[in-house]
Amino acid sequence: MNLLVTGSAGFIGANLVRYWLDNHPNDSVVSLDKLVYGRANLAEFIDHPRHTFVQGDIADAELIERLFVEHRIESVIHAAAQSHVDVSIQDPVGTIHANVIGTAALLEGMRRHAKVRGRFHLVSTDEVFGSLGDQDAFRETSPYSPNNPYSASKAASDHLVRAYHRTFGIDVSITNCSNNYGPHQYPDKFLPKMICNGVDGQPLPVYGDGKNIREWLFVDDHCRAIDLIFHNAKPGSAYCVGGRAEWQNIELVHLLCEILDEKLDRPAGTTARQIAFVADRPGHDYRYAMDSSRLRSDLGWSPQVSFEDGLETTVNWYLSRPDWIEEVRASR
Ligand SMILES: NC(=O)c1ccc[n+]([C@@H]2O[C@H](COP(=O)([O-])OP(=O)(O)OC[C@H]3O[C@@H](n4cnc5c(N)ncnc54)[C@H](O)[C@@H]3O)[C@@H](O)[C@H]2O)c1
Repeated sequence: MNLLVTGSAGFIGANLVRYWLDNHPNDSVVSLDKLVYGRANLAEFIDHPRHTFVQGDIADAELIERLFVEHRIESVIHAAAQSHVDVSIQDPVGTIHANVIGTAALLEGMRRHAKVRGRFHLVSTDEVFGSLGDQDAFRETSPYSPNNPYSASKAASDHLVRAYHRTFGIDVSITNCSNNYGPHQYPDKFLPKMICNGVDGQPLPVYGDGKNIREWLFVDDHCRAIDLIFHNAKPGSAYCVGGRAEWQNIELVHLLCEILDEKLDRPAGTTARQIAFVADRPGHDYRYAMDSSRLRSDLGWSPQVSFEDGLETTVNWYLSRPDWIEEVRASR
């Protein structure tokens, strides 16, 4: 199969391309990314014999058309996005362009130019469902209720994918997943920011009172879910994917501080003194949680990596890769 993966220089995209090349020896991967954060994540697979990297914008319809024709693309896993809620608040239109027009250009590529048509898989988010109280969890039947420009743009791309399935018969699937964590995530996101700032002695900014709750999913478990769904789910399906590890932001920051104190041989309580509460983000959702029981019962998926092990792997990776952190910081 000739597979196009978008967002391959991003956190999930890079982990997914490496996973795919390791696990699917008969597939060739063309990967596309605008390189918003630079090339640091490409190093592990850019020279792989079954991989071709293309730098470009998913919203560039001519480029997408050319890629489909030249590389005889059959299937797409779409993980490129303007993925930061704060950036979407500063630049809603840019976010809509990347996430909505970009998704539309890829769907058009699939509809008009895929000679052999495989599947279009969209990597989406739990945030499309809005915010939960202390009880319950989102499931596949939850109503869409996005609260910020990022989640609204992701909701729009979910709807476009569904519409192209119903209207044009494109074979599609969607994963709506909770917060991913793991190696290769950029330091503008919550966990890597806390780890990198923690190491550097910089403030650890926590929004509002820090009581917001997120569910965490190790990125390799997400890659396994995408693989299962891509190959086995019925056309048109969407699945909720969660790691079953819910944490209040402030509790997670305290846990990280303890881990860093231990790993960096600091006296207990040292890193926690860097915690700095900052004004809450507008439209900040209180809680997200996923009920992944449909994915479990239909396809037998469950997370393989405990939060404890995943966090250990993640912290160790950042501590061992100051070169990666420096390259990412230098390229922004
Ligand atoms: N990280 C999470 O916790 C999480 C959770 C749920 C859903 N998602 C979704 O997963 C996908 C990947 O997220 P991520 O965490 O890897 O984000 P990321 O920001 O690390 O990676 C996104 C990549 O997309 C690229 N990109 C952005 N705009 C582009 C454009 N117009 N054309 C081509 N490339 C472009 C960027 O250069 C970047 O490399 C996104 O669709 C995001 O909405 C992420």
